Amino acid sequence: MNVELFRELMTADMLMGPNSLRILEALFQRYPFSLPAGENVLDLGCGKGLTSYAIAKETQAAVYANDLWISAEENAKRFADWGVGEQVIPVHQDANCLTFDAQMFSALISIDAYHYFATGATFFEEKILPFLKDGAAVWIGIPGVKDEYAGRSEELLPAWLGDEAYMFKSPSEWKAIIGTSERIAQLETWEMNCFDQAWSEWFATSHKFAVGDQQFFETLIKPYTCFVGIHVKIK
Ligand SMILES: C[S@@+](CC[C@H](N)C(=O)[O-])C[C@H]1O[C@@H](n2cnc3c(N)ncnc32)[C@H](O)[C@@H]1O
Repeated sequence: MNVELFRELMTADMLMGPNSLRILEALFQRYPFSLPAGENVLDLGCGKGLTSYAIAKETQAAVYANDLWISAEENAKRFADWGVGEQVIPVHQDANCLTFDAQMFSALISIDAYHYFATGATFFEEKILPFLKDGAAVWIGIPGVKDEYAGRSEELLPAWLGDEAYMFKSPSEWKAIIGTSERIAQLETWEMNCFDQAWSEWFATSHKFAVGDQQFFETLIKPYTCFVGIHVKIK
């Protein structure tokens, strides 16, 4: 994936946190992604749809761009403006109660969103797996804590994250949370290597939340946190 193709969209208006395209790029570097026309991808928690747009440009697949805070109408307008209105389907649903068809998706992608709704021990098996085809794969990139600080996010991060600190889990914690369903053929969680670039491109937007995050970068974000990569291959 060539992130530079999307540089003009890496702005305060479009980014909702550390550069989602850098996180996507790093996931695809470790686990390459391709899908033919006729297959369906779910971009879960897609925000303003930047990653959905990039996935559409990478593949011929239909991209279901699902988000909670951003309306389907708002995203539909952007997808039409970007020329992918036929390929990207905006959806407005809570990830806890999705209503897609069973085994509809060949791929699930979720960037900087999965930690908001999926820390429960049965979430992946009960809320995600039913929608994945046999042979499907999952790419997730989220902020979390480094493995040496596993279990300590609520002690270390409240000054920055307030009551959302509990969402920050380590790669090994996420491995346990995804679980051991019989349908899982392979599961890897790891500390991603896109950390500095994704954060610095967010700070460069000067978004008011980026300015707030930057105040904690040297004291909390850099010492304790990382981006957690999760890849699951379904049997
Ligand atoms: C930090 S934003 C990231 C958005 C986008 N993936 C990106 O990286 O730019 C987190 C997103 O998670 C979504 N989200 C949070 N809770 C959700 C839920 N229960 N169901 C669906 N999406 C949810 C929000 O709507 C929000 O757009």
